[in-house]
Amino acid sequence: MKRIFSGVQPTGNLHLGNYLGAIRNWVRLQDDYDCIFCVVDMHAITVRQKPEELTANTREVAAAMIASGVDPKKNIIFNQSQVSGHAELAWIFNCVARLGWLSRMTQFKEKAGKDKENASVGLFAYPNLMAADILLYKATHVPVGEDQKQHLELTRDIAQKFNSDFGVDLFPMVEPLIFGAATRVMSLKNGAAKMSKSDPSDNSRIGMTDDSGAIARKIRKAKTDPHPLPASPKEFDGRPEAANLMGIYASLADSTVEDVCARFGGEQFSTFKQHLADLAVAKLGPVQEEMRRLMGDPAYVDGVLGDGAARAREIARPILKEIQEAVGFLGA
Ligand code: TYM
Repeated sequence: MKRIFSGVQPTGNLHLGNYLGAIRNWVRLQDDYDCIFCVVDMHAITVRQKPEELTANTREVAAAMIASGVDPKKNIIFNQSQVSGHAELAWIFNCVARLGWLSRMTQFKEKAGKDKENASVGLFAYPNLMAADILLYKATHVPVGEDQKQHLELTRDIAQKFNSDFGVDLFPMVEPLIFGAATRVMSLKNGAAKMSKSDPSDNSRIGMTDDSGAIARKIRKAKTDPHPLPASPKEFDGRPEAANLMGIYASLADSTVEDVCARFGGEQFSTFKQHLADLAVAKLGPVQEEMRRLMGDPAYVDGVLGDGAARAREIARPILKEIQEAVGFLGA
């Protein structure tokens, strides 16, 4: 069976982009793939986290996965730091990947900002850990949002270089799975910026723990332009806010942007926003309610993560051994 690996960082402010671009798509893949879903706490600490918040956010991301419909029995759900193979393989990849490759990563440039000297070494090496996450299980497919594409290309480069440096055919070439009407959900305040956990404005994103009032208010206040809604995606040019809101609607409604344009073309934003808010509340409400219930039962969530980690370790063990033997580590 083809194997999937994907991950979400427990850095707080889980938002609609994470849900529509990633987690919700996972639910659709779980019948056709052998799936491993990871709360990547080791990635989170590439920027400073308060320990108690990291723990709480780890549970929250796991709860979001389960509440969205990812079945923890059928799939593996665990947090990264419980499986030491991720760190072990990441070190090997630190020695395979080239500085030049990592210097081209746009996410590092964005996150490090102007003060690169002050960024953690972990933030720079982050894509190597991500490649290790995937290749530790020889995963073949990775469902993510658009923003992770460059990291997956690097994962392929690392796999290829390892295979050729050591004269093996050990790692598969990973395929990104980027699909749906919301592969890149944009900020509600700026149609040119991605919806992100780290945006200082809370109004820029719909949070997975926002109540219905907050969801409706944020949609009502979302930036728009003065024209009626376009009747076709061909008219999205120069109208990023319309494209974004209509894409979100299409994704939430399991429809297409073409259909949403056909239905709302020529309408005012104010009318459309009311429909969008109702739809968002109707679709997110049950997920949020289940998330709240799960977060009230940390022992259950911790059990899922512990059980998932044990199963992940079993898959990783022989693969890591094969990798260590290829490298020439004595005792592997
Ligand atoms: P992270 O935690 O930033 O995001 C988790 C998932 O949500 C997607 N996403 C979005 N999709 C659409 N629109 C948006 N505005 C949006 N923002 C985020 C991301 O593409 C991702 O799928 N490096 C990863 C975590 C990771 C990982 C991995 C992913 C670590 N190891 C191995 C896949 C495989 C990250 O920072 O995701």
